[in-house]
Parts: sequence; structure tokens; C-alpha cells
Amino acid sequence: MCGIVGYVGNKSAAGILLDALEKLEYRGYDSAGIALTDKDGISVYKTRGRIKKLREIMENRDQSKIDGFTVGIGHTRWATHGEPSDSNSHPHLSKSGKVAVVHNGIIENYLELRAFLIDHGHTFCTETDSEVVSELIDYYYNGDPVSAVRRAEVQLKGSYAIGILFSDYPWQIMALRKDGPLIVGIGDGENFIASDIPAILKHTRDIFRLGERELAILTKEGVTVMDKYGERIEHEVEHIQWDVDAAEKGGYPHFMIKEIMEQPDVITKTITPRVEDGRIMLGLRHITDQDLSMIENIKIVACGSAYHVGVVAKYFMKKTLRIPIEAELASEFRYDDPIIDEHTLVIIISQSGETLDTLYGLREARIRGARTISIVNVVASSIANESEDVLYTWAGPEIAVATTKAYSTQLILMHMLNWHIAGVKGLMSQEEIAAAINELERIPEQLRGILESVENVQYLSSLYFNSQSVFFIGRNIDYALSLEASLKLKEISYIHSEAYAAGELKHGSISLVEDGTLVIAICTYRPLLDKMISNIKEVKARGAKVIAVINHDDSETERVADHVIRIPECGVNAVPSLTIVPLQLLAYYMASHKGCDIDKPRNLAKSVTVE
Ligand code: G6P
Repeated sequence: MCGIVGYVGNKSAAGILLDALEKLEYRGYDSAGIALTDKDGISVYKTRGRIKKLREIMENRDQSKIDGFTVGIGHTRWATHGEPSDSNSHPHLSKSGKVAVVHNGIIENYLELRAFLIDHGHTFCTETDSEVVSELIDYYYNGDPVSAVRRAEVQLKGSYAIGILFSDYPWQIMALRKDGPLIVGIGDGENFIASDIPAILKHTRDIFRLGERELAILTKEGVTVMDKYGERIEHEVEHIQWDVDAAEKGGYPHFMIKEIMEQPDVITKTITPRVEDGRIMLGLRHITDQDLSMIENIKIVACGSAYHVGVVAKYFMKKTLRIPIEAELASEFRYDDPIIDEHTLVIIISQSGETLDTLYGLREARIRGARTISIVNVVASSIANESEDVLYTWAGPEIAVATTKAYSTQLILMHMLNWHIAGVKGLMSQEEIAAAINELERIPEQLRGILESVENVQYLSSLYFNSQSVFFIGRNIDYALSLEASLKLKEISYIHSEAYAAGELKHGSISLVEDGTLVIAICTYRPLLDKMISNIKEVKARGAKVIAVINHDDSETERVADHVIRIPECGVNAVPSLTIVPLQLLAYYMASHKGCDIDKPRNLAKSVTVE
């Protein structure tokens, strides 16, 4: 959560920082601020609200003074400690005026540090945990910024990506990180820090990621990095290949719809490099086929939509591999004394590769000796770096807070991993794998068909966008899809929605069904179709309106439901990938009818780097 940026160069810093922050608003957007520095000291501008408001405020200040600053740091906040307010906004300037800090993460021992600093004469004017960072660095500062930051860091517990200014050193910014993302951008006579690449892509494509507990000092001439022991280290610079357009809306009204529409292409990009003559080539570097053949159980560990991918995968992997497979919420897994050992494969799924609960879940798995493979979208992110092997989803930058294309590509990789393991365990022949792959390869074309004819979904959303409450029901894999469909709807439209295993609804929640309640029944799992039809009848008998999602000619379901959404006929392995897309669209259009802020839903953030 929270986005941080920093600039040092010859240009006016304010505009660059504001533009960069706008690209990071997906990380949090309840307040924003900038600190600029020159030989006269540090000036802070901050406000509750979005970057747009900060921009307006700054435009009404002494413009020529603001334009003169060429060094600064900025922040867009997702509040954890203290409500969104002007004073709780970052940057935090120490009371002496010597140190300004922007922070992403949580300082877990901030109350203890606050008490310590108060005992030593420091005062506090915010409710945030982050204010202790500027005060603590200030406390240790005696003219040497590196020593002050290092001494303060030793006392910090928790997670942090921090940008720092010292008024005595107005030609530099410093950056430090532990368990939170931070990249350094190398420009020509200018250098940058940012929480994510799109923030600075307009200015440079050359970046590197700061490692755990590394400290960077940036001036316009260059960047010095020290490891946690104070030793100077060099990072290999990565040249970003993807285009700045990939992080722009490209004519669509929202990133979310653009990203939904990109799904056919990114699925192809994810499959193609891993298939050769019908064979799956995952390119695992550390975990061998022999290792995989010895795996006796699998845990899929993730949060949010990535967890929902895990639940879908659990159903199809169990069917193929016939070993115990569980999908676990990372925030629970870590604290649940998991039963895992060297015969367990822990699959970690994360779009950002930085979700803190998921990262900690991965570390727990490694400590306990499990084998770990992560499925990650952001290259060289913490989870990608720390897992034994990584499979990248080639979804490109995903900006909308509600994930769509990352979910779809994660699902594809879970299929491929499943079949690869089945192959090495002798459970699927090469011919069976080739046939299964062929089903995946046809998904993009079938998806294009769905995305080219959205009228029915648009019509249904116009009928039901005023619903107070929506239930998604399904059985087996359709239940797993319901979880994601329901999450999509509630997170962007603010309509209360629940996902239920269809057989479970009558054990309590059916009491909430009344005249006109919308129930969306996902009916693609043919072995249990009769049961689903009975469940539809049960809710219809209580006055519900039912939209059935079907993938075959089925007059009985069409007869009992009020409306249908039809998925093209396809192989069983393609069904989940095709079914979720109209439900993403339904959520999108319902939210759009309601006039919601679709890409930045209230209270949410895309990258959750706090526990
Ligand atoms: C947040 C996002 C979700 C995402 C989840 C896990 O809650 O809003 O869209 O699924 O984090 O994120 P990750 O980056 O680990 O996939």
C-alpha cells in the first residue's frame, strides 16, 4: 500500500513527482504529499485527498519557488495508522526541519519508539507509525546521514520502503527498504526512486530493484548502494522492454476494461513460450522433474483473487494428481503451524509479487523445508526472488485495483504446472498433455468472441445495477469461480455480494433471499447440473431473479432461469478461463452504471504491503 517516489536531477522536481504519483495512485489514494529541498531547507506540501487536489494546492502557491526545486520525494497514501487527514499525510518532516521521510509499510514497534523519542524531547503531531521514522533518524543525526539512517533502521521493526531528504544534503535523496517494493531508475543527469516502474517509465527504462535492507544514495550524478553491512554493491541494470502505452488507458475509459480486453493476448503470451511441439517447457531452474515426481501434497498460498485462482486450481489438480491439495489464505497459512515438509510443493501466487502476507507465507514454507514455486506477474519482485523457482505470467502491467488479466494468466499457469507434474508422475501421457494444451491454446480466440459481443451482459447490468445484494452460487469448480465473480462485483460496485457453494445456501443464507434478490448461478459443471437446477428452483420459489451462466445447450436451465449468459462450447480445461470473463464484465458494467470510481475503488489498494 502507499506509493513513494523520489527525484534528483536538473529539472523541476514537483511536476515529475506529481506525474509519477498519479501512476502510483492504484497503491492508495486517500492523501498525498511532496517534500522539496534546496539550500534553504525542506518545503512540504501535503493534503488529504487525491493527487489532483495536491496539484491544485501547489498551483496556488509561489510557483516560481516551487519550480526552482530539483530534488524531492513524494507519497500517495493508503491509511493504516491514523485517518486520512492533512497532518497524517506524508512526507513527515522532523520537528527540527532537518529530515523528511515518505514511508510505505508498517513500523510495528512505533509506539515503543514514540515513547523512547518523547523521553528524549521529541514531539509528535500525527497518529501515524511513519512519523517515528523521521524523528528517529533526526535523533541519530549528527552530520552523517548514512550513520543516522543505519542507526535508526536497527530499531525499526516491520516493513518499510522509505525515501529520505536531509536539509543539510539538498543535492541527494536516500532510500531504504525491507519487505516492501522499491526500484531505482537511472536517467541521464537525473535519478529516481519509485514503488513501481510505471511511475518513472516516461523518464527512464533503466532500473534496478533495491534488495532487502539495502540503502541507496542518489544524486544527479549517480547512485551508490550499500548492503546491510555497509559494503558498497553494484546492481545489474534491467532495461524495461514494455512500452509506456502498456501503462496507459489507450482510449478505454478505465484501466479495468482495457485489461479485461487484453486477456486473449496476454494468455497467448503466457502459453506460447512454454510450449514446444505439444510439450510443456516450464524452464524451472532449481526444482527438477525428479523432485516434482516425489511431491506428496500441494499447498497453494495466496491472497484475494490470487487465492481464488488457487481454489479453482485445487479442484482440477486434485482430479488430475490424486494427492492432497489445499488452497490457503496466506494470512492464515503463516500462523497456522502448517504441516509441510520436503515432500510438499508450496505454490505461491501473486500478481505484484510483493503482497506481504504472501511473502511471509513463502518464507514460512521455505523455513519448513517445502519446495516452492511462485507464479508472479512483476519480474524480480520479492516473491519472485525468494522462491526456489518462478513462473512469470506475462500479463504486462496491471493498473486497475480489481485484477482481471493477472487472474486469467495465473489460471493458465496453474493448468500448465498441473499437467507438467502429472507428466513427470506418469499420470498423463504426452498425447493427453498435448491435447490439454491445445484446449488452452484455443482460449484466446474463444475469449475474443465473448469480448466482441458484450451486449447481453451490458443489458443485464442495466437491469440489476441497483441491486442491494447479489448471491453467486455454483458447485465444484463453479463454486470456486463464484468466489472471484462475487469479489469483482463487490469491490468495484459496492453492491453487497456473497459466493456460496450452491448446496450450502439452504443452510442459513437462503433466509436473505426475497422478492427480486439477484442470484447468479454458474452452471458449467455438468456432473452436478441437475443439483444446480434444483438450487435455482429453490431460490426462484423465494422470489429470486436468476441469471444462469451456461456453456452448453441446456433447455432445462434456460427454462428455470430468468436470463442466461452463454459461454461458448469448449473443452473442460478452458471452461473456468472463459466463464470468469463475462462475470468480470458484468461487475464492470454494473459499477459503471452506478458511476463508481472503477479503477480506484474506495478503501482498496492494489498492492497490499502490510499485514
Ligand atoms: C489486493 C488486490 C487484489 C489482489 C490481492 C493479492 O487485495 O486488490 O486484486 O488479488 O491484493 O495481490 P497479489 O499482488 O498478491 O496478487
